[in-house]
Amino acid sequence: MSDQPPQVRPHLAQLPGYAPVVPLAERARQAGLQPEDCLKLDANENPYGMHPRVREALAQALSDPGFGSIYPDPNQAELRQALSRYTGLDPSRILAGAGADELLDLSFRAILPPGGTVVTCTPSFGMYPFLADINELNLIDIPRDTRFALRPDKLLEAVEQAGRDNIVVLTSPNNPSGDLVRRDLLRRILDLGATVILDEAYVEFAGMDASAQNLLAEFPRLIVMRTFSKWAGIAGLRLGYALANPDLVTDLIKIKQPYNVNQAAEIAAIAAIDSAAEIGTQIDAIRETRDQLFNALLELEGLTPLPSQANFILIRVDPNVGTGRELHDRLASVGVFTRTYSGPLLTNYLRISVPRADQIDTLKMRLLEAV
Ligand SMILES: Cc1ncc(COP(=O)(O)O)c(C=O)c1O
Repeated sequence: MSDQPPQVRPHLAQLPGYAPVVPLAERARQAGLQPEDCLKLDANENPYGMHPRVREALAQALSDPGFGSIYPDPNQAELRQALSRYTGLDPSRILAGAGADELLDLSFRAILPPGGTVVTCTPSFGMYPFLADINELNLIDIPRDTRFALRPDKLLEAVEQAGRDNIVVLTSPNNPSGDLVRRDLLRRILDLGATVILDEAYVEFAGMDASAQNLLAEFPRLIVMRTFSKWAGIAGLRLGYALANPDLVTDLIKIKQPYNVNQAAEIAAIAAIDSAAEIGTQIDAIRETRDQLFNALLELEGLTPLPSQANFILIRVDPNVGTGRELHDRLASVGVFTRTYSGPLLTNYLRISVPRADQIDTLKMRLLEAV
């Protein structure tokens, strides 16, 4: 008998782990404030929360005595049908998951063998290197330039050299820089025969014209990732989806966890799709508030906002004001919770999610106080 617990495999044990957002209640407690007096602008959620129609659909489902006691549909038939209405694509091209995160993980594991390669362009979403690490994949990083623009020549060169077992992950709009991937660059990468995951988690805030989903028919190696966490206000229920080639979707369905989408998430997502026009009003408001926030930031000495197509803004913080982390901490002490970064590339930056329209004046005041 051993008195030791089983050991995690060495390559996993040594990983630092993902740095997730700290819960609001915890951050408020640290600041000595009540959660309702704080602005949670650190995770790009929908500041208006779940739409009342979605809440109603869930309440109605809860009143059914059978709710939650039977397994959800592993084939996600009704949900995929609803997603088909939302995207205009055939359900055979759609697969849902417990957040885009799950589908990113599934895609990496399903397509790449250990030792395969993920090509990314930092700074971007921290989940990509995390998933590459846990799946024993190599990471090739083609960093963005000093203004956070992609470097097409270097990226194309890397794709050409990366060989067969690789996936290029691009994010449009990018988190945290807020810019879109140009269509011609995407085409050139796909023309090289690369497998591309295009993460469109924030595309609703750019407008659906910005989506590259119409390239799916032409390029069987394109996978478009989306989520209901941002536009639809149900981050806590976990619902994402992938748009891809039907053969790939068939294979992914075979190997996913059979009951990966829980019943509440399914009901909420279908209700959100049925209320997409109403939620669109929230999206319009967020876009308008984004412009107001951008202009307010421009007026603050020492802060330079980057134009954004998403529901957040990356801000360059002048050294006179402090580092991104220092400003983050000062804002946190007055109840404004933002996102800061540990890597050297973003030492002087801070990301802030767009608040509700009625919160913008409070935010402006607290920014003024903290700068
Ligand atoms: C670019 C990007 N992709 C995906 C996600 C995760 O989406 P989900 O909540 O559906 O897992 C995020 C969340 O922050 C993100 O920023």
